[in-house]
Amino acid sequence: MEVIEQVGTIRQTVQALRCSGKTIGFVPTMGALHEGHLQLLRASAQENDITICSIFVNPTQFNNPDDYKLYPRTMEEDIALLKTVGCNYLFAPNAGEVYREQTLLQFSFGVLETVMEGEHRPGHFNGVATIVGKLFNLVQPHKAYFGQKDLQQVAIVRQLVNGLSFNLELVCYPTVRETDGLAMSSRNKRLNEEQRQIATHLYKALQQAKAELKQKPVASIKQSIAEYLQSINQVALEYFEIADPDTLQPVEDVSKYKQVALCIAAFVGEVRLIDNIIVNLNEV
Ligand code: PAJ
Repeated sequence: MEVIEQVGTIRQTVQALRCSGKTIGFVPTMGALHEGHLQLLRASAQENDITICSIFVNPTQFNNPDDYKLYPRTMEEDIALLKTVGCNYLFAPNAGEVYREQTLLQFSFGVLETVMEGEHRPGHFNGVATIVGKLFNLVQPHKAYFGQKDLQQVAIVRQLVNGLSFNLELVCYPTVRETDGLAMSSRNKRLNEEQRQIATHLYKALQQAKAELKQKPVASIKQSIAEYLQSINQVALEYFEIADPDTLQPVEDVSKYKQVALCIAAFVGEVRLIDNIIVNLNEV
């Protein structure tokens, strides 16, 4: 596997690959790789001639400076893992290389960003769209792989791809979980042992809400989830939403939907975690 740090080099490499007719799969990440990332990389290696991973902790998508500073950075372990999943190139630029000059460009995603992550992390999706757009232009993939773990991010990137006519296929894979249900996340590395146990309550809350979907109106499900998490030490719920899985807009009457997304964001100690499940209403 070749590690590339320069924008010029990734451009030349990609151009040569494309000229020789190779198909390119791309997995953008912020590193501290885990099984959630690795499943995307394996899928890419299976479905494309060449797989490119990027590792870049993108400053413009962090609305909280501490979150950026404390985001886990484990480059050596990451490189060792990438070699086990058939990754051909790692693009790992530094911030100065990617943001050579200040970007004044602003994206607006309308109602997609007025809810949940968009509402609670001002500027976050503008930063995500900026970096993902840049990376798509540099890497020019045929297929790009994303995880359902960041459901709203997938919807935003879909808008970006459609809105700007990027010539690529977006592929989304399900959330990979620890055996106790906790969604894998690079930020889990910041939890201490006790918090790591406590964090499982996010998934338990989603399961409780799923069980209540057909029994209670949306408002009382929300209330019971808020009460459940209030009773747990070190957990501060930021939001729990029942949303349309495509538009991410809040659902008021579940009976009108075939599928809904149950989405949660909460702090466990100082660490902010998100999770979601998509529920088929004929299965509950
Ligand atoms: P990061 O959090 O590193 O995630 C990279 C990709 O892995 C995303 O598509 C994310 O949804 C996926 N992923 C993370 N945890 C997962 C899990 N448990 N199961 C399945 N997929 C999972 O998302 C980002 O980085 C950044 O916003 C990025 C797109 C790279 C732009 O900076």
